[in-house]
Amino acid sequence: MTTRCFVIGHPIAHSRSPLIHGGWIAEHGLAGSYDRIDVAPSELPAFIARLRSGEFAGGNVTVPHKEAVMPLLDHVGEAARAIGAVNTLWLEGDRLCGDNTDAAGFLGHLDACVAGWDARAATALVIGAGGAARAVCHGLKVRGLARIVVVNRSPARAQELAVAFGAPLAARAWENLPALVGEADLIVNTTSLGMTGQPPLDLDLTALCPGAIVDDIVYVPLKTALLDEAERRGGVPVDGLGMLLHQAVPGFARWFGVTPLVTPALRTRLEADILGH
Ligand code: ATR
Repeated sequence: MTTRCFVIGHPIAHSRSPLIHGGWIAEHGLAGSYDRIDVAPSELPAFIARLRSGEFAGGNVTVPHKEAVMPLLDHVGEAARAIGAVNTLWLEGDRLCGDNTDAAGFLGHLDACVAGWDARAATALVIGAGGAARAVCHGLKVRGLARIVVVNRSPARAQELAVAFGAPLAARAWENLPALVGEADLIVNTTSLGMTGQPPLDLDLTALCPGAIVDDIVYVPLKTALLDEAERRGGVPVDGLGMLLHQAVPGFARWFGVTPLVTPALRTRLEADILGH
């Protein structure tokens, strides 16, 4: 019997998840499938009801359904509740469950790139206050960072995030960025700035501490101007593609009962796909 999985979104044609999960299905010789399914917002309740038949083992959820799907589930995991969005679904008996694996993906990639980073990092500077920032902040808080400073173009949103998550989060104004850079052991760009077609993230890294980690969740281009500049100034660049790959691991493990590895070969396939577009 084939274990069927999906990614739903609207639109969904751009999703790279089939490349990741399809690669793992082939690598492990599994009888499985992973397909993109376009589900319009009005069709979401019917699609979720359909999952209860057991036709699929589970799947991923992307824009615009990550929040709307939550009240339709029987169980929502702790990370998803904290982040306020679900990206992974699975069936446990007749219970339809969901959780968010973005924080785990962010941490998994950071761990793989800079072993022991969390033992050295006290202060994190998170730029942005959207959904991606919530996942990153959740991950950093779970890891026990002493200080997580959130800076956002719209200050009210940074403030809201800091209040919702509580200590050790604190919001600061965008104007303070140049000084905050000098206090950070880890800087994370969670905005779409620097992505191909978007303006660059104009962050002054003059004060960057040597050895500070600069993590950009943008992965198109694979190496953003921010990461180039960080490297030039003695920082440790961590790219966004790894987070995309690592966030896929927990879902695959649930659906197929095999914990897959993020290998250089898989990464190379994704890189080729990104460069080809
Ligand atoms: P996501 O769920 O991918 O994080 P989002 O919720 O739309 O997407 O959040 C996008 C983030 O990028 C926000 O922090 C946004 O800042 P605002 O809250 O002020 O909108 C940030 N962002 C997007 N374009 C920006 C720009 N030109 N300058 C500064 N920040 C920007």
